[in-house]
Amino acid sequence: MGTPLNISNDLALDLEQIIGQCIAILGIRGSGKSNTAGVIFEELLKHNYPLSIVDIDGEYFGLKERYEVLVVGQGKGVEIEVDVDCAEEIAQVSIEKSVPVVLDLSGFLSEERSEFLKAYLTALWNLAGKLRRPYIIGIEEAHEFIPQGVRTKLKELISRIALRGRKRGLGAIIISQRSAKVEKDVLSQAGMLFLHRVVHEADMRVYGELLPWRKSEVKEIITALETGDCVYINGETILPIYVRERETFHAGFTPSLEVVVTPELRQVNQSIIEAVERAKVGKGKKSRIEELRGRLEQLEAVLAEKDKTIAELEEAARTLGYIKVEIPSPSLPNMQDISKAIVHSAEGGKVASRAARSMSSVSDSVATREPVAPVIEAPFDEGNVIDIDELDSMNSLPQAVRRHIDRLVSRAAKKGILDRRILAFAVAHAPTSYSVRQIAAWTGCAQGVIEDDPPRDFLDVGLIVRERRSDGLHYRSNLKAFVTREFGIYKPDIGARELHLIAQCLRTRLAVLGSAVIR
Ligand SMILES: Nc1ncnc2c1ncn2[C@@H]1O[C@H](COP(=O)(O)OP(=O)(O)O)[C@@H](O)[C@H]1O
Ligand SMILES: [Mg+2]
Repeated sequence: MGTPLNISNDLALDLEQIIGQCIAILGIRGSGKSNTAGVIFEELLKHNYPLSIVDIDGEYFGLKERYEVLVVGQGKGVEIEVDVDCAEEIAQVSIEKSVPVVLDLSGFLSEERSEFLKAYLTALWNLAGKLRRPYIIGIEEAHEFIPQGVRTKLKELISRIALRGRKRGLGAIIISQRSAKVEKDVLSQAGMLFLHRVVHEADMRVYGELLPWRKSEVKEIITALETGDCVYINGETILPIYVRERETFHAGFTPSLEVVVTPELRQVNQSIIEAVERAKVGKGKKSRIEELRGRLEQLEAVLAEKDKTIAELEEAARTLGYIKVEIPSPSLPNMQDISKAIVHSAEGGKVASRAARSMSSVSDSVATREPVAPVIEAPFDEGNVIDIDELDSMNSLPQAVRRHIDRLVSRAAKKGILDRRILAFAVAHAPTSYSVRQIAAWTGCAQGVIEDDPPRDFLDVGLIVRERRSDGLHYRSNLKAFVTREFGIYKPDIGARELHLIAQCLRTRLAVLGSAVIR
């Protein structure tokens, strides 16, 4: 038996179902999104569930009418004015001491807003990795931070929390009035959705993809929704519901001529206020000399790190018997040549040329459109689940290997978006193969374009393979075989476990490369 939440009379939902969830609340302005979000926050606060709310319009401070919530940032209702310097400390206080926080960013410039959120969410992500306890982040006007088709560090961070936070207990509530402008991957992965009224055709199309109804039905049902009504989706459950009104003061309510009385607000524990104030003082404006001293220290640290890297590379080269080591530079050779370019030695040379031969044999057979012989199973598993702990242990790989991975990814990142999307799709869905028609549907690109302009570079290098089937050409990931071949030169310094780690890492990083939109 769970802990029931009072969100709507039409809905039986338990607190436990919220843990680690990605929840999306969509709808036009005035449809009741902020009220719905506010009701969910009220229910969570009622059960002491720790949370942060990214508040762009200063409309959530009213939660303090009933609950001890810390409102920080820059805006009318804030208790403590803070800037980006304290973001990390506030995140720490919030998650470690379970203090609910409203980040009122209404008084920030957009650049400052994004800097603040980057620092705040990075700290939350890292701390959640250690603490692994339930925590949720609500984000208003989410299309501004996770816009469809644009890649930013902040977007990557929020998407990561929304899509992969569950393991750390992290959940996200994504609120937006521009459904069509929110990153599709996040919406399609949301476990729970509250779809309020929309009117624009583009938003209706997004709803059409989320709801298993005919287009005309979607339009008919959605346009008939009134303020506070929405369609609730949770897995197989699809339910029209009316969300109750907020119990606490809703500062974002539609203005009327009635006189508004701002309620009396509760204060958070004085010790919390003092902790944040202390963090603020510690981060106050530094003198110019201190600033320069700090910068000098940073540069010295970078230099020391570089010296260390060079020493490690030289050591690796000696250990592996290489004669020549090329320090990575931005102008890199083609991917096909990377194996050859890195090393030249009696033994290494043999391996490299063998690798090159096997690569060209794959590309030859693909070019002539012959079916590719099944790849011999490597002694590790490409798997479908990306384990965060495992990725963290990437650091255990030799420096040279990590750099090799970086080079491959940066090389791949420079290829065209369509090629990257095909690669991303293939590696994310390994080991299944998909027809050009299926891939075209996923990438949103005409089938003919993929047929006329296949991802040659990735095929040539053997990252993906193309096979002819009865229903036409298919693509599938060949990452395992690629990794075995490409990183074979590091044997015996690395074994099956390392190869597995490399494949996991490449898989995650290459899958991300496909997330920009095709224009
Ligand atoms: N479930 C509801 N019941 C009654 N009034 C509501 C409900 N949801 C929203 N409202 C009212 O409708 C107006 C708009 O709601 P709001 O949540 O701010 O919309 P949005 O965030 O979608 O722009 C507000 O005045 C609010 O008080
Ligand atoms: Mg709103």
